[in-house]
Amino acid sequence: MRTMHLPTALLLATIVALVVGCAAGIQLAAGGIEDPGQRLFNGYTKPNVKCFYCHNGDGRGSGKGPDLAPDVAKMPDEAILAVIDKGTAFMPGFGDRLNDQEQKQILGWLRSAFGGPAGEAKEVEAEEVDAAPAEAPAEAPAGEAAEETPAE
Ligand code: HEC
Repeated sequence: MRTMHLPTALLLATIVALVVGCAAGIQLAAGGIEDPGQRLFNGYTKPNVKCFYCHNGDGRGSGKGPDLAPDVAKMPDEAILAVIDKGTAFMPGFGDRLNDQEQKQILGWLRSAFGGPAGEAKEVEAEEVDAAPAEAPAEAPAGEAAEETPAE
């Protein structure tokens, strides 16, 4: 009666295989990359920034991280920048290693490679990225107009 439940055993085996056995992504050749964002992504600009290790040098994923194409195409700029800055459950944040400009260079490359929500690419300003906590979009001050009194 101590035999492990079969689905549980399969699940554990899968998890172990995912954690131990998965191939890391491959760095693209430096000479082929001109985009500064993709150079950062491929570890050529900063030795401690290696997105390619998990997402592959072309962003199409490896055993360690997902293909970014389908999600980048759907995610607004703020969400992508928040992932890069703060990380997720399974991805480290890079806020301590990449300044706003560098994070935006990567965003720019991701957009040029995978597209994205139309019209949102230009809207994020550096201050918003700095000030906003990961989930809270900056609110436009809506109440001010109501306080104006007629000038007479
Ligand atoms: C240690 C592996 C690892 C590294 C290094 C890494 N990522 Fe990720 N990344 C992941 C994983 C895993 C996910 C999926 C999110 C999750 O499950 O938490 C992810 C998700 C993302 C997402 C959200 C879209 C999606 O498909 O979920 C973006 C955008 C992203 N990464 C960009 C980057 C960039 C840019 C860098 C380099 C600055 C980077 N990642 C470095 C592992 C990594």
